[in-house]
Amino acid sequence: MNLATRYMGLSLKNPLIASASPLTGEIGAIRRLEDAEAGAVVLPSIFEEQIRAEQERWERLTAAGTESFPEALTYFPDPGSYRVGPDRYLELIREAVEAVDIPVLGSLNGVTSEGWISYAKGIEEAGADGLELNIYFFPTDIAEEGWAVEERYLQILRAVRAEVSIPLAVKLLPAFSSLGNMARRLREAGAQALVLFNRFYQPEIDLAELRLVDDLALSHRSETRLPLFWIRLLRSRIDCSLAASSGVESAREAIQYLLAGADVVMTTSALLREGIPHMKRLVGGLRDWMDQHAFASVDAIRGLLSREHLAKPEPAARARYIDILQRYPAEQGLWD
Ligand SMILES: Cc1cc2nc3c(=O)[nH]c(=O)nc-3n(C[C@H](O)[C@H](O)[C@H](O)COP(=O)(O)O)c2cc1C
Repeated sequence: MNLATRYMGLSLKNPLIASASPLTGEIGAIRRLEDAEAGAVVLPSIFEEQIRAEQERWERLTAAGTESFPEALTYFPDPGSYRVGPDRYLELIREAVEAVDIPVLGSLNGVTSEGWISYAKGIEEAGADGLELNIYFFPTDIAEEGWAVEERYLQILRAVRAEVSIPLAVKLLPAFSSLGNMARRLREAGAQALVLFNRFYQPEIDLAELRLVDDLALSHRSETRLPLFWIRLLRSRIDCSLAASSGVESAREAIQYLLAGADVVMTTSALLREGIPHMKRLVGGLRDWMDQHAFASVDAIRGLLSREHLAKPEPAARARYIDILQRYPAEQGLWD
């Protein structure tokens, strides 16, 4: 049976990827993910704020030292050996690439296209097989128009594209007025893959203490529905790799994503909840299902249920919407 797949130009032995999280931020865990059959790993994001803070800290340290005591610079380690945060990140990439045979993808998280983008070059030089741009931007300024928000994404992608030649993926939030059009423009601006989707982290309200709770709730399988919708729709319309991300609890969700047309399926919450060995269960579950249904390769199932593969054309989205709403009372026996 052939589980091999291709993702943003890379060859993967299977389509299950450990997405960015603290789990992929440690070399021992990356090794164990490979042992548990992960097809690739995405390292946790390095944040623009982190890079800026470290740069400013270093500039302050060196400027203060040189102005007041010229000899003070000797108290500081040589910048080459001084392991600031972003340097540690590059070191992790180097170690990971050395330690495992599966593709290692870096991840950058920023909001602007200035300065820090050259950091992408560092990630490429450190040997990453690809780079995910985690553009986690919230348009909280109600004067900023939608087109300006979209342009921000495109500018970041273009600026990074100009710096590096490794494959680039853009990890999206699902909050665009015309997501399909945005996907198309990201493709045109040089994205080799789109990751659908990143998750919003939204607050809860604690009624007893009357305060906001900023906790991190892990995902559940119900969250696969929105990415499934978009992957099915975009599969034949966008000529780039599609990664499904959100809500994979078991092999079942991974298979659903592949049937919808995903090239790869990513998971974080399930690994954090169940531990790294769960990756092996996901891959094993995919293998068993393909065996039971006599599918010889992942290529044979990919996109089988995407829109263009259906025997009958689907009703238009609006017609389905009305139909679903109107069927509900009868199906649920509401008036019986
Ligand atoms: C604790 C934690 C840390 C995460 N860190 C990152 C990160 O650094 N960069 C990123 O792009 N996504 C990050 N994510 C998001 C995941 O990569 C993933 O996109 C999201 O959790 C949806 O997938 P899931 O439903 O399988 O959890 C993180 C998620 C969790 C739960």
